[in-house]
Amino acid sequence: MERHKLRYEMMNKFDPSGETGYNWEIEVHATPEELQAFAESGYLIREGLFQGEALQKLRDALDRLEERESEKRDSAIAGKKGWGFIPRHLMDKDEVFLDLLKFQPTLSIARAMMGPLVRLRGLSARITYPGDGRQHQTPWHQHMRVISNPIPPWFSRPHCIDCLIYLDDLNEDTGAVAIVPGSHDWLDKASPTVHELVEGEVHLQVKAGGGVLIHGNLWHRGLPTLNAKRRMLILSYTPTWLRKSPHGGAQPEDGLTHDFLKEADFEERMLLGVGGYS
Ligand SMILES: [Fe+2]
Repeated sequence: MERHKLRYEMMNKFDPSGETGYNWEIEVHATPEELQAFAESGYLIREGLFQGEALQKLRDALDRLEERESEKRDSAIAGKKGWGFIPRHLMDKDEVFLDLLKFQPTLSIARAMMGPLVRLRGLSARITYPGDGRQHQTPWHQHMRVISNPIPPWFSRPHCIDCLIYLDDLNEDTGAVAIVPGSHDWLDKASPTVHELVEGEVHLQVKAGGGVLIHGNLWHRGLPTLNAKRRMLILSYTPTWLRKSPHGGAQPEDGLTHDFLKEADFEERMLLGVGGYS
């Protein structure tokens, strides 16, 4: 993966070391051309984010979590089938997930697109189970439906990068992800909430360990999961001053990030939502 360096000078105290002056130097895991294409299309494919042992560790950790939360899983499956089971607060539940806090292949891109002051919106997973028909697909949606009509002059448009990281191959059996390029910029309309065909939609398949990075408001949906379980992580970033995901309620009080924060440095605290704004 090609990389390039990016330097931000900050206006105030937001220096990661507190010593080197008011700037951040970021090694971005993408080319400037890829970032430009991401800005315009709203999505960026990243094959091979995790391979071999690293991929297996994530799969094992998610399988363990699914087993521990099997009651929640069963009631989720009995309810909205198309959404499968969505465990939340993963960084509080397994060290393997907490280790993704500073995962540079995605974090560096988030900082290149939204500035150095970013935080985790959350790390969740979505597991979809095979079955026939429309119940096993996810309808069109977008993640930040907070835009009014008309848009006031000083409206703060919400930006978010959701990294959809697939732990199984996306194919006909597990279901591709469908997106509409450029739809993150359509501030005057919301996505449909059904499974209909949308003009210009593109179906993406990546290998296990690969990811599709999307702007949080890109129109997207999951095609039917027909024959094999589909495991996905959702690693999300926003600017530090945007509130974290409301889904899944408060994080568990005895979660891993609780103790981690006691020893955490400026950057780690900021990533977990403590400070990093004025
Ligand atoms: Fe989604």
